[in-house]
Amino acid sequence: MFTDAAAAALYDLLNPWDPARHPADAFFTDLVMSADAVLDVGCGTGGMLHHARELGHRGRLVGLDPDPAALDRARRRADVEWVAGVAADAAWDREFDLAVMASNAFQCLVGDEELAASLAAIRGALRDGGRFAFDTRDPRARAWEEWTPSNAREVVDASGRTLRVSHRVEAVTGDVVTFTETISAGDGEVLRADRSSLRFLDVPALGAVLGEAGFEVEAQYGDRPGRPVSEAGRSILTIARRV
Ligand SMILES: C[S@@+](CC[C@H](N)C(=O)[O-])C[C@H]1O[C@@H](n2cnc3c(N)ncnc32)[C@H](O)[C@@H]1O
Repeated sequence: MFTDAAAAALYDLLNPWDPARHPADAFFTDLVMSADAVLDVGCGTGGMLHHARELGHRGRLVGLDPDPAALDRARRRADVEWVAGVAADAAWDREFDLAVMASNAFQCLVGDEELAASLAAIRGALRDGGRFAFDTRDPRARAWEEWTPSNAREVVDASGRTLRVSHRVEAVTGDVVTFTETISAGDGEVLRADRSSLRFLDVPALGAVLGEAGFEVEAQYGDRPGRPVSEAGRSILTIARRV
């Protein structure tokens, strides 16, 4: 009733890559523009790398994502390499200066084994001293408590129909939050429901998994680049370096 392609288009409608409005998008864009070869892990519909090309990035840009519908949208630009797969599939050997997981894609790495395998693959893809930058929601802000049907968003899609997007948390188990995203028509008819899980790691836990994977944390910021992680913040921006 609501295809994967429509869901990918809706993602772009709700989450356009926009450095002017979102400090994290500006943070990643600055890093990408100053790196020669960039791997975007969990690139989704490709907004970050599309934007980098539009800004004149002339180096190698590669996007990796397991979602075929998202990659189809990413492929609207042919001057970027688009690869299907999860982070743990990244088989490049020391080819990139920078790897990025933007828009909290890192939180999709839920299990310990998947997380370790993903970090090992990302590290392997980086040149010596290469950097891995990503954002995660700070668990102290308990963002999932706002993922309730009463906080649903309404949008009008490209064809002019009104869609309602709502969330309901199914379980909070340790640092993993499982929730359902429901897309409904204007009349309330449910068009699609997707269940997913996200992992919420705090600063010490991020340091531990990165250290075990052969990274050292070079810088860590809160909601805004340059500002420290704070108890009142919602986000953790991390730059880790391959050691
Ligand atoms: C919130 S979206 C972010 C997309 C994109 N980075 C952006 O900034 O718009 C998370 C993305 O991570 C991808 N993803 C999920 N599990 C993954 C995994 N194990 N490895 C790599 N990407 C994954 C999803 O397919 C999805 O496109």
